[in-house]
Amino acid sequence: MTGTGPAPRRARRRGGPVPRRLGTVGRQAGGPTATDRCRRSGPPSGPDPISMEQENTVTQTPATVEAVRSSKELRRVFSAFPTGVTAVAALVDGRPVGLAANSFTSVSLSPVLVSVCADLKSATWPLLRGSARLGISILAAHQEQVCRQLSSKSADRFAAVDFRATADGAVFVEGASAWLDCSIQDVFPAGDHDIIVFRVHDLDDDPAVAPLVFHSSGFRSLEG
Ligand SMILES: Cc1cc2nc3c(=O)[nH]c(=O)nc-3n(C[C@H](O)[C@H](O)[C@H](O)COP(=O)(O)O)c2cc1C
Repeated sequence: MTGTGPAPRRARRRGGPVPRRLGTVGRQAGGPTATDRCRRSGPPSGPDPISMEQENTVTQTPATVEAVRSSKELRRVFSAFPTGVTAVAALVDGRPVGLAANSFTSVSLSPVLVSVCADLKSATWPLLRGSARLGISILAAHQEQVCRQLSSKSADRFAAVDFRATADGAVFVEGASAWLDCSIQDVFPAGDHDIIVFRVHDLDDDPAVAPLVFHSSGFRSLEG
């Protein structure tokens, strides 16, 4: 991401989301329709001061954005925020189990806490949740394929992944940019995800190894 260049290629749209017309969803939510509000604010008799044409341009925030925006649109907007990519993994019944997660963020320095958001539909999180220790590896720029594999439906996601496991069961990806040895401290429900707060017991990094960057639904590196 060499983002220090001069002018953006596309003309910038004026700030803020484009207002959307009141749709069926807004009316279902029980709020007053444009017609209702026009009638209430108008005189008890005589001509309606607001024409139908004007009424059709009245805008209102929809009841919920997820009701009127597809998950594809939501993902696209969220993916405007560049992130790193982590591998969250542990030994389960002696075998490495894990997944790729870009929702990782640092939370607290004292105590040392980090968090990851886990999809409630994930088949892997319920397996990891019971682990005493989990490894979080911050994937390196050259580990795009590792990320793909750790997010695939493959039976053995670690088949071609170079990893090491600690005696406590945390699993780390070799060659990553950084590693955090964690246990689960708290789980907070948040919509269709859980926010997992991890206590960090040990950590290390290799500053010479550039991280993998996930942005606009694609993989990037800080080198460009
Ligand atoms: C770049 C990337 C980031 C991801 N981030 C998350 C995440 O933060 N949380 C999550 O639950 N799943 C995330 N996933 C999806 C998981 O890696 C995995 O594909 C998903 O959990 C489905 O597999 P499962 O049912 O075995 O868990 C991400 C996938 C990719 C490719």
